[in-house]
Amino acid sequence: MTMAEKPMLLDVNGLSVSFATDRGFVRAVRDVSFSVREGEILSIVGESGSGKSVTLLSLLGLHDAKTTRVDGTVSFRGQRILELPASRMRRIRGKDIGLISQDPMTALTPVYTIGWQIAEQIRAHEAISARAARLRAIELLGEVGLSNPGEAVDRYPHQLSGGMRQRAVIAMALSCNPALLVADEPTTALDVTVQAQVLDLLLRLRKDFGSAIILITHDMGVVSEVADQVAVMYAGRIVERGPTEAVFANPLHPYTWGLMGSIPPLTGPRLARLRSIPGMPPTPDRIDDGCGFAPRCRFARPDCARHPPLHRLGSQSALCVLDPAERVALRENELTLETEA
Ligand SMILES: Nc1ncnc2c1ncn2[C@@H]1O[C@H](COP(=O)(O)OP(=O)(O)OP(=O)(O)O)[C@@H](O)[C@H]1O
Ligand SMILES: [Mg+2]
Repeated sequence: MTMAEKPMLLDVNGLSVSFATDRGFVRAVRDVSFSVREGEILSIVGESGSGKSVTLLSLLGLHDAKTTRVDGTVSFRGQRILELPASRMRRIRGKDIGLISQDPMTALTPVYTIGWQIAEQIRAHEAISARAARLRAIELLGEVGLSNPGEAVDRYPHQLSGGMRQRAVIAMALSCNPALLVADEPTTALDVTVQAQVLDLLLRLRKDFGSAIILITHDMGVVSEVADQVAVMYAGRIVERGPTEAVFANPLHPYTWGLMGSIPPLTGPRLARLRSIPGMPPTPDRIDDGCGFAPRCRFARPDCARHPPLHRLGSQSALCVLDPAERVALRENELTLETEA
């Protein structure tokens, strides 16, 4: 079965998120849509503050309902999950959707040992004894690469190093073989060899259990290696998305060109981390109808201040006023200039 024939797992449509602040409602995410099929890996990339974590946390119902306004729909296996009661949502989150959050401490409770926390997570969804759950926890801690899992299982989070804590959180997210794993920069806190191990582990989860993965990362090399689809976020919007191969071979949005640099990615050497682009990303209260990237875009024109149209090229799409033919010509010119420089 090709990826396009796999059943749809998660469908996010028109997700917008704003926060109540002293300055009134501040919008952090605007009109974000994407979908993930069973077993598919979607990578979300974009600068710090572009709204990646807010997107993932709010679609999982992990936002503070008192101060956050979430619009749009999120369907998981055809069920609208944002409308579910909190208890049903919690159940889905622990059993069907695993989360590796950006900050491991938010996933761990300081007052219990990590083994206890992993075992509880397993027992919340599976009828097994405390003893069996503890053994599973030890096994999982071994699988995520903790060198002495039988000892680590009885440690409290503060007794572990940052990297060990991150692995404990990954073990917890994997404990129920989730159909969807949501991983927000799961390897940033880890050193390079451990990063590679963790990625292998995620890929194994897909291979053994057919899990789909949403992976936020700053590492374009990782994206090109593991992702089937990529979504590029800028200033609270997805400015481009599509199959990884297509987006790397022919990025449509000028922001994506900037990210990709001029290295031919799928065939060339491994890309460095996100390239920096001159200028500052906007603050969320300035997400209006126009293209957020326009102030930093060399190709900006007056039309960019209006709502930029969504152009499609096969299954790839970009929010930009440049029409596809013009965009290809401009980008080629850009690459030539970079090669000459
Ligand atoms: N609770 C909140 N109240 C007000 N603003 C918020 C809140 N949470 C996030 N924001 C703002 O929303 C924007 C998007 O934040 P988010 O954490 O999603 O960025 P990110 O893309 O994950 O960045 P990074 O790569 O640094 O993790 C930021 O400007 C952030 O300051
Ligand atoms: Mg983040």
